[in-house]
Amino acid sequence: MRVGFIQNNPVFGEIGYNLSKIEPSLSQYTVDLMVLPELFSTGYHFLNQKEALRFSEPIPEGQTTQTLIRICNKNHTSIIAGIAEQDENRSYNSAVVIGPNGYLGKYRKIHLFGTEKNCFDPGNSPLKVFDIGSARVGVMICFDWRFPETARTLALSGADLIAHPSNLVLPNCPQAIITRCLENRIFIVTANRVGTEKRTPSNSLNFIGQSQVVDPDGDILYRASETKEEIKIIEIDIGKSRNKSINSGDNLFTDRRPDLYRL
Ligand code: ACM
Repeated sequence: MRVGFIQNNPVFGEIGYNLSKIEPSLSQYTVDLMVLPELFSTGYHFLNQKEALRFSEPIPEGQTTQTLIRICNKNHTSIIAGIAEQDENRSYNSAVVIGPNGYLGKYRKIHLFGTEKNCFDPGNSPLKVFDIGSARVGVMICFDWRFPETARTLALSGADLIAHPSNLVLPNCPQAIITRCLENRIFIVTANRVGTEKRTPSNSLNFIGQSQVVDPDGDILYRASETKEEIKIIEIDIGKSRNKSINSGDNLFTDRRPDLYRL
């Protein structure tokens, strides 16, 4: 299976421009699944709920989802991408899942980070796994990584791979994801952005790049730079994530002791 990510640097609020910039790159490659960053078509730092709502789009009717559906159809590929979702008078920090035959579903971020809490409603539906044909794929968005229950729930629900659209600002995630992969024996594809947003004089956000693909052994198959826009596609053996044994006597799933755990 061929998976990839786009590490972009969107211009805040310029949805048409940001979409037009990634479309030619997406059409150039043969890939089964491409992961795009969190809020990839709008930029990240909304100042309040009213502003988030102004740039949010209904799913799947909005411009961003419709553009991605057209791209997936034309290139026979799947895309998972973070977008600002409008649903009546609420906004969600969401990700859409699209396959070659169209829209498959969405995920609404459940662990909002910092000022996102002033702009979005938290996700309100259970974590889900999507079958895209070549793999069973779970979705988590950025700060969800910091709650190990997210990746664990997706792995226990049958995910081979987690698509992880991100706009990371804290430094720890790229290394911590290695542990998420090891403890669940899954692949994680983190698509992060680069660049800076300074929407108020006192608050400048610097996004740390380092998009990556990590395998079930915790090996970093590829990690991007901290500052440059980039596209990367690599071949993975998805079957590796379906074997939860770490040696002949130990298995990450059957050796669990849920009778003694507290959630
Ligand atoms: C984040 O969750 N965007 C840091």
